[in-house]
Amino acid sequence: MKKVLTVLWLSATLGLAAPIEGYMQTLADEAKKTDASFSGFDAKRGEKLFFSEHVGKKGKKISCASCHTNDLNKAGENVFTAKVIDPLSPKANKERLSDVKNVKKWLRRNFNDVYNREGTALEKGDVLTFIRNY
Ligand code: HEC
Repeated sequence: MKKVLTVLWLSATLGLAAPIEGYMQTLADEAKKTDASFSGFDAKRGEKLFFSEHVGKKGKKISCASCHTNDLNKAGENVFTAKVIDPLSPKANKERLSDVKNVKKWLRRNFNDVYNREGTALEKGDVLTFIRNY
């Protein structure tokens, strides 16, 4: 009986733990390596990062919100290609943050678009926390 319960518990836990949780943990481990005083990601810092404007890759002043809008529950538009972008918030769009490979790819590209460099583990963790809690 105990064995059956353990198996049930295990499959439930594994089933519930979204892959993004594993990625958040990896980012937290990296952030801790860079700064021993790291004490967790912060949605407020992530929000600031998301809305602050920089002269980006194409010499234009943009922020993450330039393409994803000021309301993450709404559809956005790519400022460069004018293509529609589905809402970024997982509440409005269930597919968001479900595919870690995709998240990594776009964070790399989008940080380069806005900041002309890749994001640090701390920045990526903060901005993902902001998006997840939106
Ligand atoms: C030039 C337009 C543009 C800017 C600026 C931009 N994004 Fe994106 N972003 C996109 C596009 C296009 C996609 C991929 C299409 C899609 O997923 O709908 C995307 C996808 C994403 C995804 C993937 C989400 C998922 O699970 O599918 C994340 C996370 C993201 N962006 C975060 C950011 C952050 C953080 C910034 C600021 C550093 C940012 N974006 C700036 C255009 C942009």
